[in-house]
Amino acid sequence: SAPLRAHAAAIDRYIGTSIDPDPLADEPIYGTIVAREFNSITTGNTLKWDWTQPSPGQWNFGAADTFVDFAEQHDQLVRGHTLVWHNQTPGWVQDLPSAQLRAAMESHIDAVVGRYEGRIGHWDVVNEPFEEDGSLRDSFWREGLGDGYIAEAFQLARQADPNAELYLNDYNVEGINAKSDAMYELVADLLAQGVPIDGVGLQGHLILGQVPSTLQQNIARFAALGVDVAITELDIRMQLPVTPGQLEQQARDYAEVVDACLAVERCVGLTVWSFTDRHSWIPEFFPGEGAALPWDEEYEPKPAYHAIHDALAAH
Ligand code: G3I
Repeated sequence: SAPLRAHAAAIDRYIGTSIDPDPLADEPIYGTIVAREFNSITTGNTLKWDWTQPSPGQWNFGAADTFVDFAEQHDQLVRGHTLVWHNQTPGWVQDLPSAQLRAAMESHIDAVVGRYEGRIGHWDVVNEPFEEDGSLRDSFWREGLGDGYIAEAFQLARQADPNAELYLNDYNVEGINAKSDAMYELVADLLAQGVPIDGVGLQGHLILGQVPSTLQQNIARFAALGVDVAITELDIRMQLPVTPGQLEQQARDYAEVVDACLAVERCVGLTVWSFTDRHSWIPEFFPGEGAALPWDEEYEPKPAYHAIHDALAAH
């Protein structure tokens, strides 16, 4: 039957995956699946600050260049991830006094976004700025630059590529809760101030059987503000070992997420955070859990794959 991307494209959405450089280089089947099944890729770790500029002025764009070339060969949207984040940002940045921190943010956004002007269609401009209670995270960004760092980052990104779609991205904001309420208020404020924000990314690092019941309602309220919404880092983890019953539950969970997105016109696409259990962040970060993705470790499609496929095809 037709690949995921054909069904997504037919309804003007995208289905994406984050990718990693090593398997793309070393395992031919990896690139074959990415090209065949997905019409979007996200740059994984390769455009994070610790990768692109590990020390001042030492730039590293090789892996990301390869990804962008790959995406152009295969007619895929590129989601650039991510410009301003408290993680995976080198110590030399975190230690800068305010004025230099602001200058570093300016030159970083200018260099990274500018390099791929017209080639990276969507950017996660600011990543994970909220605490669980909805307050703004006390990151070195906020300490150094004040709450306005978020608006500044969006303005800088707009200047560097006026046509890129600019996203605010976070986790545990899929359902309606204190954190997503805060995100909603911030987006409304930014829009009211004329800050160039185009979209909201709900990461979607979910737990088996726990898709928030308010997911669609939450997507719809952001859309009603006048921004696009995307599921940007979807995975649905489970306790190992895997059982057939868990795989069936996971398939239902994936379908529920796809359906919630497709029910809202401005939910423009979904991205899985890697597509194969062979390459996933989950086992390292949540010992004893895994199997979160639609393909297994041998690159065989799981029930979740078929569920995503059928949900896209049915819409
Ligand atoms: O590159 C080093 C390597 O040299 C070293 O030998 C190895 C030993 O641990 O570590 C390697 O770095 C790892 C890096 O991934 C690249 O593989 C880091 O330890 C590891 O912490 C890092 O994890 C990434 C994580 O973000 C860090 O925050 C995951 O791969 C990545 O999937 C994950 O992605 C994040 C999104 O960016 C934002 N949202 C949440 C999501 C999951 O945490």
